[in-house]
Amino acid sequence: MGFLSNSVGIDLGTSNTLVYVNKKGIVINEPSVVAINVYNNEVRAVGKDAKEMLGKTPHNIEAVRPLQDGVIADFNIAKVLIKYFISKALDYKKLAKPNIVICVPVGVTSIEKKAVLEVAQNAGAKNVKLVEEPMAAAIGAGIDVGAAIGNMVVDIGGGTTEIAVISLGGIVVSDSLRVAGDSLDIEIKDYIKWKYKLDIGVSTAEKIKHELGNACQEYYEIPENKEIPTTMTITGRDMVLGLPRSIELTNEEIREAIVETINNIVSGVKRCLERTPPELSSDIFSNGIYLTGGGALIKGLDIFMEKETGLKIKIAENPLDCVALGAGKLCEDM
Ligand SMILES: Nc1ncnc2c1ncn2[C@@H]1O[C@H](COP(=O)(O)OP(=O)(O)OP(=O)(O)O)[C@@H](O)[C@H]1O
Ligand SMILES: [Mg+2]
Repeated sequence: MGFLSNSVGIDLGTSNTLVYVNKKGIVINEPSVVAINVYNNEVRAVGKDAKEMLGKTPHNIEAVRPLQDGVIADFNIAKVLIKYFISKALDYKKLAKPNIVICVPVGVTSIEKKAVLEVAQNAGAKNVKLVEEPMAAAIGAGIDVGAAIGNMVVDIGGGTTEIAVISLGGIVVSDSLRVAGDSLDIEIKDYIKWKYKLDIGVSTAEKIKHELGNACQEYYEIPENKEIPTTMTITGRDMVLGLPRSIELTNEEIREAIVETINNIVSGVKRCLERTPPELSSDIFSNGIYLTGGGALIKGLDIFMEKETGLKIKIAENPLDCVALGAGKLCEDM
């Protein structure tokens, strides 16, 4: 049956789940959200369809994200999610159970690892291999992780920022911060509440972050970025009158709103650099730091980090796909 067996690489992320199938590449890329009927636990929607329901569901339907801060918070919902995506990704008529490579944040507890293992086994895996997210991210970013050269990867996801120095196929120094994309959304939501007395949903806050989320003004001064919008009109609910109201936001305001999380991420990177052995430090000085994950797309984050660390910052090509591509590469080798 060997020729019929499949290998699958899964990036089970707080925000998005990606499934890589051997010889095919990434075939699933959907939000990690499941909508359920709270009265009878019936699954109403998974992935994209479920995310559209976030914040808009009637009282009997709840849209749940099974992962929080990078780890499984709701085991049963995580099982539903993985099973659904794997069956969507694979042709189950082929019978053979797949080998699965699935990612976990660095420094997770053995209980958290066990939960991920069980979810994968439950979804019908033959063999399961766990891989640490920054290692997968580094492979997916095209770094030669086996070389005797130190490389630093910073993967800014939805729930966690994973920082790792990799050399000779292993992680030498690492940290996992529980601040990332979700924290930025909350900061934006809180800022608008504080400044405009306007309540917005997290989906709107995320849209604002995608459009105006930035870490420095210099980004907008680069000639090819001149056309990038610096304002946006949004609508929320007036907290005093309770009625819908629109406001115009600027990129400066959003930079001010998210400054704390951005500074926390940069401080985490600096702390890891301080713990890095000198030989590897000098490699990082020559090679720079690689940014992956959706957070790498915050405008001007690379410029800001360059100023703060004095190191070259490189945004990986397709930063949102790196972890899945790395897991996929490992599953091809399995
Ligand atoms: N253009 C963008 N600008 C800013 N943030 C973005 C952009 N695109 C995506 N993001 C953010 O990136 C985050 C998702 O990134 P990613 O898919 O790497 O996370 P994840 O792997 O699901 O989470 P984790 O690794 O923490 O478990 C979300 O917070 C999303 O809002
Ligand atoms: Mg991730």
